[in-house]
Amino acid sequence: ATTLGASAAQSGRYFGAAVAAAKLSDSTYVSILDREFSMVTPENEMKMDATEPSQGQFNYTNADRIVNHALGAGMRMRGHTLAWYQQQPGWMQSMEGSALRQALINHITQVAGHYSGKIYAWDVVNEAFADGGSGGRRDSNLQRTGNDWIEVAFRTARAADPVAKLCYNDYNIEDWSAAKTQGVYRMVQDFKSRGVPIDCVGFQSHFGSGGPPSSFQTTLTNFAALGVDVQLTELDIAQASSSAYAATTRACVNVPRCTGITTWGIRDTDSWRSGENPLLFDGNGNKKAAYNGVLDALNAA
Ligand code: G3I
Repeated sequence: ATTLGASAAQSGRYFGAAVAAAKLSDSTYVSILDREFSMVTPENEMKMDATEPSQGQFNYTNADRIVNHALGAGMRMRGHTLAWYQQQPGWMQSMEGSALRQALINHITQVAGHYSGKIYAWDVVNEAFADGGSGGRRDSNLQRTGNDWIEVAFRTARAADPVAKLCYNDYNIEDWSAAKTQGVYRMVQDFKSRGVPIDCVGFQSHFGSGGPPSSFQTTLTNFAALGVDVQLTELDIAQASSSAYAATTRACVNVPRCTGITTWGIRDTDSWRSGENPLLFDGNGNKKAAYNGVLDALNAA
């Protein structure tokens, strides 16, 4: 096939992009989005500060613009994200303890409920594990409400949207030997053994110019063996070499339960790492060499 979405679909997968609502009026951007992609993640518009700017007052305006565009164009949605230590609204940043726990539960109930039936997968919890060698949880106001906060978030999301796949999403968990990877693996193993509703793990895949660690496919295989789907949720690669993108794509398509890949933006100029030219389209919207690396790897699957 000749587009990312159609090529991924040949093996039952999706190919997605992070989308910013403000760019939906850019015709070059939208034409690439509609032509190439089959899944959309809002880059910022579903985060806690965007959807609940004042406690108990929900604003879905920008997120709805993205959802309506995506569903109207036949694309599916990844929701991002219901609980994160960053991008909390000001009122939440200063909360702790049982009041924060209750506010989190209400937030998830409201937002996942609002979008129930429209979301393929939710990043229920984002980036809850610490960097470095501990393999433990990241300190945050959410973590300080009790170590069970993540499973409470997943159970709350399931109750609010029984259909969406519920994912844990993080970065620097692609290398199997990393302590952070092992920490997340043990949590997923524990959740599956106790019946906590988790369906998928998102590997953000923000890579340096060398691309993925050599163990990436092993990591995806080992998580999938726990009984969850795995997805590459925020892919970008410094300098975007075709070989690094092809290797990343192959790591996914070689794993049956790797259900799709999302790049974190469309054109280099749309990227949070724009200085590193990390995406598949240049600032003019032209396909880069990395695009063909991905397309060929999808078509070989
Ligand atoms: O909305 C305001 C706007 O009103 C203001 O004029 C402008 C001026 O700085 O800032 C705008 O907000 C910015 C927002 O992006 C929208 O552009 C925030 O300051 C900025 O912090 C925010 O950055 C986002 C970042 O998450 C927030 O942590 C990036 O766009 C987004 O790409 C990035 O995405 C994250 C994933 O959610 C999680 N994984 C890592 C990834 C990259 O950091």
